[in-house]
Amino acid sequence: MPFPRRHALRGRILTFVDDPALASVEAGHRYWSDGLIIIADGIIEAVGEAAQLLAGEGAPLAITDHRPHLITPGFIDAHLHFPQTRVVASYGEQLLDWLNRYVFPEEQKYSGLEYARAAAQFFLSELLASGTTTAAVFCSSHASSVTAFFEESARRNTRMIAGKVMMDRNAPPGLLDTAESGYRDSKALIERWHGKGRQLYAISPRFAITSTEAQLEAASNLNWEHPSCYMQTHLAENRAEIAAVKKLFPKARDYMDVYESFSLYGPRCLFGHCIHLNERELHALHETGASAIFCPTSNLFLGSGLFNLKRARYPARPVQVGVATDIGAGTSYSMLRTMSEAYKILQLQGQRLDPFAAFHMMTRGNARVLSLDDRIGSIAPGHEADLIVLDARATPAMAHRMERAETLADELFVLMMMGDERSVRATYVMGGMVQPQA
Ligand code: GUN
Ligand code: ZN
Repeated sequence: MPFPRRHALRGRILTFVDDPALASVEAGHRYWSDGLIIIADGIIEAVGEAAQLLAGEGAPLAITDHRPHLITPGFIDAHLHFPQTRVVASYGEQLLDWLNRYVFPEEQKYSGLEYARAAAQFFLSELLASGTTTAAVFCSSHASSVTAFFEESARRNTRMIAGKVMMDRNAPPGLLDTAESGYRDSKALIERWHGKGRQLYAISPRFAITSTEAQLEAASNLNWEHPSCYMQTHLAENRAEIAAVKKLFPKARDYMDVYESFSLYGPRCLFGHCIHLNERELHALHETGASAIFCPTSNLFLGSGLFNLKRARYPARPVQVGVATDIGAGTSYSMLRTMSEAYKILQLQGQRLDPFAAFHMMTRGNARVLSLDDRIGSIAPGHEADLIVLDARATPAMAHRMERAETLADELFVLMMMGDERSVRATYVMGGMVQPQA
C-alpha cells in the first residue's frame, strides 16, 4: 500500500526507554492509550498523545487508525538459520546428530542460487508475518546463499544482519570451505553488502567443531579488519558438543577460551546458546561486552538444557542477553512463542519473566545487543519506522481469556503466552505496511 511521504499511525502505543528488569517497570516503558506516531520518509518524526500531536498539525495528515490494537516496535530475532526452513521439526536427535542427519544435507542445497532465492522469499515473508523486522541470520557456507538473502532483504528494505557460515572441517565436502576461501568469500560479501542500504554483515564461523585453527585465525582477521561488522557463532549449547571441543582444542581452558584465544570477542560478538558456561566464561563475556543469545524453543527441542538468565545477569558481572528463535532447531518463527517458552524455562528454575521485561527483550533489548538501539527497537523520534500492530484477541481462546484482563501487563502476558503470528495484524518496514500484503 503506498503511503504519502509523511503520514501517521494511531493506536495504543508501547515502547521502552530502559530495561524493566533493571530499572522499574514504570521507569522502563512509555505507553499512550490513544497515541500517534508521525512518520516522514520512513523515519519516526514524533510520538505522543494523539490529541496533543494532532492539535499541532496545520495541514491534514494521512492517518491509519489501528485502534484498539497495540503498536510496538518490530520484533528483533538475534539468532536464526536461513537455510534450515525445511528441517524445522526434524525428529529424534540432539545437536550433533541432528546437524549431521538433517541440517548438513539440507544446507548443501543452498549452493544453488535459485533454491536459495526461493527460500529467502519464504523466510523473509514468514519473519515479517510474525512481526520480526530485524534478524541476525546464518546463511549456508555458499556465498550464493548470502547473495540470495541480501538481494531479497534489500528488495524489501528490511534491516537484516547476515553472513556466510565459515566451516572447513567435520562436515560433508559439499559444505566445506577452506581457511583461505572462507576468508576471501566473506571479505567479498562484506565489501558487497555491509552497510549497503539497511544490510549489515556478520562474520560467521559456525562453531569451534567445524573450523580449524587456521580458519578461526582467518575469522579473527576479518573481525579486526572490519570492526563495524558483527561476529556470530555458537557456544556451549550441548554437553557432547563441549566434550568434542575439548578434544579438538586440548590446550583451551574451556569452550569460550577457544574463541578468546583467537580474539573472537567484543561488543559486536553474538554467542548463540551459552547454556553450559562456567564462571570464567561468563566473566569473559561480561569483560569483553559480548552477548549471550538465549534460544528457548531450540534449547527445549534439542534437549540442550535450561538457560539460566538470572545467573547470566548476575549483577557483579552482568552478561548482555539477547533472545532468538534459532530456526531450524527452534520450532517457531514467532518471537511471542519464543518468549512463552522462555517463561517456562525460567519457571523450571524458579525464575520469573515479567511481560514488560519480555517485550523489552524482543525490541529495545535485542536492539542493544545488536548495537542498533539508536536506530531500531524503540518508537522514538529519529528511529526507523519498523513497527507492528498486535491484537491480544486474535483467537477465540485469547479473546475469551482477555475478558479477565485488567491491565496492560495482563494483556502483554496473554500476547506472550498465547500469541503467535495470528496476533500480528500489521507489520511496517520503514513506515510502509508490508503485512498484510495488499
Ligand atoms: N551449532 C552449530 N551449528 C548449529 C546450528 O545450525 N544450529 C544449532 N542449534 N546449533 C549449532
Ligand atoms: Zn544457531
